[in-house]
Amino acid sequence: MPDLAPRATPDARDAVRALRPSQIREVANAGFGVPDVLPFWFGESDRVTPPFIRDAASAALASGATFYTHNLGIAPLRATLARYVSELHGPTSAEHVAVTSAGVNALMLAAQLVVGAGDRVVAVTPLWPNLVEIPKILGAHVETVSLVYGAQGWQLELERLLGALTPDTKLLMLNSPNNPTGWVMTRDDQRTVLEHCRRHGIWVVADEVYERLYYADGAGQQAALSAPSFLDLAARDERVICVNSFSKAWLMTGWRLGWIVAPASLMDDLGKLVEYNTSCAPAFVQQAGITAIEQGAAFTRDLVADLRASRDHLVRALSALRGVDVKAPPGAMYVFFALPGAAHSLELCKALVREAGLGLAPGSAFGPEGEGFVRWCYACDPARLDAGVERLKGYLERHGIGR
Ligand SMILES: Cc1ncc(COP(=O)(O)O)c(C=O)c1O
Repeated sequence: MPDLAPRATPDARDAVRALRPSQIREVANAGFGVPDVLPFWFGESDRVTPPFIRDAASAALASGATFYTHNLGIAPLRATLARYVSELHGPTSAEHVAVTSAGVNALMLAAQLVVGAGDRVVAVTPLWPNLVEIPKILGAHVETVSLVYGAQGWQLELERLLGALTPDTKLLMLNSPNNPTGWVMTRDDQRTVLEHCRRHGIWVVADEVYERLYYADGAGQQAALSAPSFLDLAARDERVICVNSFSKAWLMTGWRLGWIVAPASLMDDLGKLVEYNTSCAPAFVQQAGITAIEQGAAFTRDLVADLRASRDHLVRALSALRGVDVKAPPGAMYVFFALPGAAHSLELCKALVREAGLGLAPGSAFGPEGEGFVRWCYACDPARLDAGVERLKGYLERHGIGR
C-alpha cells in the first residue's frame, strides 16, 4: 500500500497566509446575533441603485446579453467611458480604456501588470487595506508613508513621500479622495509627484474611485465635477494607470463594474490578465454601465449634494460630543475621527457593536497610523446618522468616556 498520509498541513503560500484579514469584518462578526445594528462600517450607501440603471440591466438581460464579451469590455462602453473621461480630464480614446469587474479587480490587474516578486511598492496611508495587500499577493514589498493629522485634518508631507520614492521603487499606489480619511491630494502635489516618478521611471497607480465625491469648499465656490486627477496632468501613454468604478458615483457596489485608463501599449497584456482573472465583466452589467454614464449626470450631482449635507450633519453632531475631534474632509464618504477610548480602536468598535448596536470601522484597519480613530460612512439619511450619534453618546456616557 502506498503511504497516502499527508506530509504536512496543506497551507496556502506564505505571501497569502501573511495577508492581513479585514478588521472591519472582525467587527461585523462581533455583531453577529446583535439585533438592530446600525451599520456605518462598510463603504456603501444604504440606497439602492437608481431605477434607470436597474431598468437598463433588465432590458439588456431580456434582450439576451448573457454571453462572454471582449476581454477589455464591449466597444460601446469603452467608447462611452472614453467620452466621459475626456470631458472630465481631457482627450482620452477608447484604446486607453479597459472595462473591469469593479475597482478591486482593476487594482489587482494594475498591480499584476507592473509588479512582481521582490519589487518595491510605496503606498500613502492610512489606506483602504486592499491597496497595500494586493501587491503583497504578488510578492512585492510595500513601504508606507503616513499622512499626518493636524489642525487642517489629514495632510501629506510631500518631502517624506518624495524621499520614499527611491529610484529602485517600482510603483506608487495612491488613493485620492482617500478612504478612510477623506484626504484629497492637491493638484500641485500631484504635479510634483508625477514629475519625480517620471524622472525615476516609477509607475503610478492612482485609485480615483471617489473622484466624483468631492466637496470643493470655499465661499461661493461651485462644486467641482471631480477631485484633482492624475489624468488631468499625465499624458495617456506614460507610466500612469488610473483605476475607477461605478460603485460610488452611481451606487452600483454589487454590480462589480469599473474601468482602467492606461497606456495603449499595455492593453494587449491587460487583455490577457483579464482573460485569466475574470474573462470579462458581465455583458448586461456593461450595458447598464453605458446608461449610467449617459443618463446619470443629474443623479450623481444630486448624490454629491446629499452626501455633502450628510457629511456636514454628521460632523456637526459628532462635534457636540465631548472629547471627539472631527473635521469635515474634502472628499469620499467617510468621517475619520478621533475619540477618547479609541486608543485600541478594534476593541472599541467591537464593544460599540455588541453593547450599543453601532457599527463603525476601526482606524487600525487602515494601518497603524489610523489607531486612535474610527471611520464612519455617512452615505445615508441624516435621521439614521442622528440615531447612530445617540448610540455613541449613550455608550460614551455609560463608560464615563470623555468626561
Ligand atoms: C479606495 C477604494 N478603492 C477601490 C474600491 C473598490 O470598490 P469597488 O470594487 O466596489 O469598485 C473601494 C471600495 O470601497 C475603495 O474604498
